Amino acid sequence: MDRLISMCKQRGFIYQSSEIYGGLNSCWDYGPLGAELKRNIKDAWWYANVHLRDDVVGADTSILMHPDVWRASGHLANFTDPLVDCKQCKRRYRADHLSTEVCPECGGELTEPRQFNLMFKTFLGPVEEDAAVVYLRPETAQGIFVDFKLTQAASRLRIPFGIAQIGKSFRNEVSPGNFIFRSREFEQMELEFFVSERDADEWFERWVEARWNWYLSLGLNPNKLRKRAHGPDELAHYAKACFDLEYEFPFGWQEIEGIAHRGNFDLSQHIKHSGKDLSYFDDRTNERYVPIVVEASAGVDRALLTFLVDAFVEEPERVVLKLHPKLAPYKAAIFPLQKKPELQAMVEKIKEDLKYDFPVITDDTGSIGKRYRRQDEIGTPYCITVDFESLEDGQVTVRDRDTMAQVRISTEGLKAYLHDKLQWRPVVK
Ligand code: GAP
Repeated sequence: MDRLISMCKQRGFIYQSSEIYGGLNSCWDYGPLGAELKRNIKDAWWYANVHLRDDVVGADTSILMHPDVWRASGHLANFTDPLVDCKQCKRRYRADHLSTEVCPECGGELTEPRQFNLMFKTFLGPVEEDAAVVYLRPETAQGIFVDFKLTQAASRLRIPFGIAQIGKSFRNEVSPGNFIFRSREFEQMELEFFVSERDADEWFERWVEARWNWYLSLGLNPNKLRKRAHGPDELAHYAKACFDLEYEFPFGWQEIEGIAHRGNFDLSQHIKHSGKDLSYFDDRTNERYVPIVVEASAGVDRALLTFLVDAFVEEPERVVLKLHPKLAPYKAAIFPLQKKPELQAMVEKIKEDLKYDFPVITDDTGSIGKRYRRQDEIGTPYCITVDFESLEDGQVTVRDRDTMAQVRISTEGLKAYLHDKLQWRPVVK
């Protein structure tokens, strides 16, 4: 982890937020390559879950919502962690994360556990009074639930259908850590799928499979991925059943995504608290009911850490990030063999031809070997080298990141070659 974290900083993937002021604990900034990788993950999720399906539409709802939303959803009462303080050194811990009864740092006596709500509070408007309190959302899902009727009517959707959303969420976590794994500001990719009671179990299973397949389609090592069913004592306040997809990080098996059977808890609660009818009428069966929700909820930052850890390979001669090409920040790097104007002109021409299709980068500093190593380390799947022969025969050398094999390709066929190599087809069922 330490070497990965230091590579992330050096190469411009991820830095500590506000570093020049000493950093802000558990908040992170994505640099140029991190921003590209993050976009690619979100695009891959949106593509597989919205664009390729006829039964899912997208949404982008606001972070600040009416405070009654959190009363109805149960977050005000239940979205809490048990906290204990050390009476001696004043350190704070999550009671359920402690294996000892005395402070693990100084051995001091601990207080009784107190419930601590994880939602961040702020004020809407200029007056800081109780009536103006609003919360930063701790999950994006509630925006989808409160808009359920509007979206269903506007899109003329029939159950079963889903609504997908990607956006920031905030939790005042008691023990953030493990780099970007658990932070206080993070992004989620959430899909709420509305079904009838009759079909709920089948859709629950389907979504567990679909989400499992999505990670594999992006090259994740299946031996490091597992499904784990929640025990009754672990279930969130809204869930009837839940499967976690877990990945084996250097710090152990950890949840990267939760697929939950939420029953009709959320819609029923919003019906009760808002007084609005959020039921669904099925004109095929003449039934009116409150739909069941099957949810697939993933963290963008957690997925990003998973793909980074999985792709980070230290070979004797090089460090290589074996990212799936769909996720790689640059798809190709183009080099002139030497800093000669005629070679550089050809590099520019190739770049102009490719850049509308793929993010590409050029590099003319250092030896070719060094340039290959730099691209290997940031996960660029192909390096294209223009040499003196290229000026004669119009062919360039294309080197594969993983196998390091090299082939000569004519510049005319280059775009088609890359399109063929870089295409990605997730399984959608
Ligand atoms: N709407 C359901 C929900 O929010 P969750 O299990 O609390 O369920 C879903 O969160 C996903 O969001 C997690 O699997 C994880 O990937 C991500 N996530 C949750 N808390 C996080 C945090 N503090 N930092 C980074 N990612 C987090």
